Amino acid sequence: MPITWDSRLDTGIDVIDAQHKRIVDYINDLEIAKIKGDKVLTMEVIEQLIDYTQSHFGFEESMLEEAGYKFLKPHKKVHELFIKRVTEFTMRAAKGEDIADELHSMLAKWLLNHIANEDRDYSETVKNMVGSEAAHHEGNVAMPAARSGFMAGLLGRFFR
Ligand SMILES: [Fe+2]
Ligand SMILES: [Fe+2]
Repeated sequence: MPITWDSRLDTGIDVIDAQHKRIVDYINDLEIAKIKGDKVLTMEVIEQLIDYTQSHFGFEESMLEEAGYKFLKPHKKVHELFIKRVTEFTMRAAKGEDIADELHSMLAKWLLNHIANEDRDYSETVKNMVGSEAAHHEGNVAMPAARSGFMAGLLGRFFR
């Protein structure tokens, strides 16, 4: 079953929500490749998904550091653990094992759970740093130029 986005996954930070949606798209692409039984495509999607997720983690961690998020350290640890688990899967795949099913369900469960819980937890802290979209529209708090520049710079650093 493909994952459909729902509001429990929203952090309210546009740039982050866009990245999370892209991750969900990759998970759905993986399911399609798996159902097709296309092994080459499956490995390609897995590679892209891991690569994109790693860039996302890097982006997120730098943003949280800038925002002075107090749980940055444990958050980083969770990202590290995830990468470790995924690496174990790719090592098994390299030995010829068919890991697509197991990896797909792990990714779907783990990433969605992480987004809905740990990621949503930093939402307030980051919104306070950049000034929320809503506040921006109401004309209360405009995003300070230096901060929006920071986000743009981060994007360039982690995504090509
Ligand atoms: Fe995260
Ligand atoms: Fe995230």
